[in-house]
Amino acid sequence: MELSGKSPTIRTHGEDPLNLETPPHSLRESFITPVERFFVRSHGTMPKVDPGGYTLTISGLVESSLDLTLKELKKRFPKKEMTAALHCAGNRRAELMQVRQIPGETAWGVGAIGNARWTGISLRDVLLEAGVDGDAAHVAFTGLDEVPLEDSVTRFGGSIPLEKALAGDVLLAYEMNGETLPRAHGYPLRVVAAGYIGARSVKWLSEIEVRGEPSENYFHARDYRLYPADADPGEADPAEGEPLGDLYVNCAICRPAEGELVSGDPVKVAGYATTGGGRGIERVEVSADGGETWSAADLTPGEDSGSWVFWEARVEPGPERREVHLLARARDTSGGVQPASPRQAWNPKGYVNNAYHRVNIRRTAA
Ligand code: MTE
Repeated sequence: MELSGKSPTIRTHGEDPLNLETPPHSLRESFITPVERFFVRSHGTMPKVDPGGYTLTISGLVESSLDLTLKELKKRFPKKEMTAALHCAGNRRAELMQVRQIPGETAWGVGAIGNARWTGISLRDVLLEAGVDGDAAHVAFTGLDEVPLEDSVTRFGGSIPLEKALAGDVLLAYEMNGETLPRAHGYPLRVVAAGYIGARSVKWLSEIEVRGEPSENYFHARDYRLYPADADPGEADPAEGEPLGDLYVNCAICRPAEGELVSGDPVKVAGYATTGGGRGIERVEVSADGGETWSAADLTPGEDSGSWVFWEARVEPGPERREVHLLARARDTSGGVQPASPRQAWNPKGYVNNAYHRVNIRRTAA
């Protein structure tokens, strides 16, 4: 089986659709996640797109619809680069599944995330060229992949508010980390909506529609919603669910790993933190005593606000402690904080778990 040039250490959740997770220690190996270690989240079979026959359509509430080949897109609009994390709404679902079952969903650990350098054109430039009508309020994307649902087949899609689409931090990317966008990541063109859940960064992009209302695509209108804890998402009125967009403040411990045997005092703890809405990470703290005391971490931010932040802290559990529960929490520049327990973050589809992250380690005798 060909895993599209992925590292043998990547964790396979499924081969078709291809779903791959980056192991925690690999996430911290480099600030820019190499393609071979970058997670993959797909809902259907990967399409094989012939670049010669490819066109992107921009239609809907615009003054002039556009139909552009990849060559025309590259020629007509300035090249733009941006470092941004792709952060799947299902990241850290496994912790929610320990609270209560979430049937039919993948048990992602902390590795449904990666940080890449994206090259492409700005969605803003394309929309300004097409001319946006006064009634426009949302921008919908549709991909070329066909996803089987219970009794139908649909193409993957979703929308973002027009304000976000014009903000300048949404790219139509054709390169990832300086290479042609790999097939698993959306070749020949994908959306990268910085600071939004990964599902809005539609891969194998074929249509952009400017609309008055949000997308009616299944993955926007029904799925990727935050339903109340007592709702049955299969039966619930979609209006009961809040559509997901902007990411919440979040962080995870990547090193040490769960169950790792660690020697020495202090213990070095390292991980990543993210947030949305153009906010920054203000602080990350780590506790080795169940949240009684906290040590501030050193932060390494990226140059763009959509990038993740790396952090590293030192905690001193004391040499006599043989089992230590590490906790990490972050705060963003708007004062956004994380819920203390996955119980507070639990929702029936298992999305956007941003509870304090916990890793249990063992220590060698002093
Ligand atoms: N786009 C299409 N066309 N089909 C998909 O299944 N999955 C989405 C998004 N874009 C998806 C898609 C989800 S849920 C995520 S988290 C990201 O792609 C994952 O991007 P990656 O596979 O490049 O890491």
